[in-house]
Amino acid sequence: MLKDAIKNALNEQVNAELYSSYLYLSMCSYFKKINLEGFATWMEVQALEEMTHAMKFFNFISERGEQVKLTKIDGPETSWASPLAAFEAVYAHEVKVTGLINNLVDIAIEHKDHATANLLQWFIAEQVEEETSADAVVQKLKLVGNDGGGLLLIDQELGRRVFVPPPGTTIMGGAGKGQA
Ligand code: FEO
Repeated sequence: MLKDAIKNALNEQVNAELYSSYLYLSMCSYFKKINLEGFATWMEVQALEEMTHAMKFFNFISERGEQVKLTKIDGPETSWASPLAAFEAVYAHEVKVTGLINNLVDIAIEHKDHATANLLQWFIAEQVEEETSADAVVQKLKLVGNDGGGLLLIDQELGRRVFVPPPGTTIMGGAGKGQA
């Protein structure tokens, strides 16, 4: 059983994580269109990671004996002025998500829901990583500026990203039990 306030807030976060996945998938398509395949790969992996975040909340709600209420997902932006503008948008989005997670922690504490607070600890650490990795790309893009060669080097580097489900998460059923 979950208190209604917690259940509703967690349901909203499922939607927010799915929106994040949508946003990065949209950016993936944008980068494919401008022939930056490495950037596109990075975004595809990011979109998959966001799915695992959504499923982590989805599975938690189910484990607590509640039904997940899926709601309409807003359509994300479809174009950005430059790769830098896109990654600045990634960073800004992750800062926003961090705010959502912090707000969820406040709600969990207010309702003395320690299990939910415990789940959220994982996301707090994850958000630090998400903000750091997005900002690292922003800084590199600022460094190379309009240098096409530098951009292609970053494209190569980002293209090496491989999807590895974060520990304790899964896209396929279950609750990721037994995973590290
Ligand atoms: Fe699910 Fe990028 O935070």
